[in-house]
Amino acid sequence: MLSEITILPGTDKLDVMENFTEITLRAGETISIVGPTGSGKTAFITDIELLAQGDTATGRTILINGTPPIDDIRYSPSLKPITMITQNTKCFADLTAEEFLKIHTRARGKNDNGIISETIKLANSFTGEKIHKDAKVTILSGGQTRSLLIADAIMIGAAPIILLDEIENAGIFKQEVINIIKDTGKIIIFVTHDPLIALLTKKRIIIENGAVKKVLYQNEVEIKAAQNLLEIERRVGTIREQLRAGDVITDDVLAVNFAS
Ligand SMILES: Nc1ncnc2c1ncn2[C@@H]1O[C@H](COP(=O)(O)OP(=O)(O)O)[C@@H](O)[C@H]1O
Ligand SMILES: [Mg+2]
Repeated sequence: MLSEITILPGTDKLDVMENFTEITLRAGETISIVGPTGSGKTAFITDIELLAQGDTATGRTILINGTPPIDDIRYSPSLKPITMITQNTKCFADLTAEEFLKIHTRARGKNDNGIISETIKLANSFTGEKIHKDAKVTILSGGQTRSLLIADAIMIGAAPIILLDEIENAGIFKQEVINIIKDTGKIIIFVTHDPLIALLTKKRIIIENGAVKKVLYQNEVEIKAAQNLLEIERRVGTIREQLRAGDVITDDVLAVNFAS
């Protein structure tokens, strides 16, 4: 059982030691990684994905349950406790969404028990463009593909650590979705520029110049700020849907959506 991973410091882009002793991420935690483009966010989660042992550009070391992972865990894909999904992750199989999930469910030795339709439902809560169970995975859009793979990793996949690198364009991560994710007991790390995801995660790691600058914990005010942001997003969503449907924005629509 994986209960926690620990990140030990490396060096920044100028070879200066990072200013933390260790960062521990526990099962059931959601974490966001934020910082400017080029600051080293992908490098940080790649260290986790590779289970770095001082052998990457950053020099960081990753421990599992407090100890260095054995080589089998580092190098055998089937034993690796990590799934990473990026903008470029694609499905190549010539299967429908339902068949794709069925094969994975069977490979994991699980019974269907509605898990496949639940997974498609979760995927559809990530993306505005609904995925039909009979759609071929190869013709799904980028956003649909990432949504399906994230839902698959959460519901069916065995990996206790899920790394998501700037996947927000996959759709809208609503609070309910983050709640579902929390209940899976996995460690979920979002590299993100989306303020809502950053506010909804329990921990926020700030990266600058290749180094961890700060580790922040969600506070009460931020939980309220997230609620406000959700409400704004809901209103924007309503207007977006109306425009898509060819509606004209009238005073009534404005009054309903922007009355404060
Ligand atoms: N600590 C570090 N030491 C050396 N190079 C680094 C470090 N962190 C990041 N880099 C390099 O800087 C570049 C940008 O990092 P990247 O992780 O892609 O940034 P981001 O994902 O935040 O846009 C990459 O080439 C990466 O290998
Ligand atoms: Mg990146």
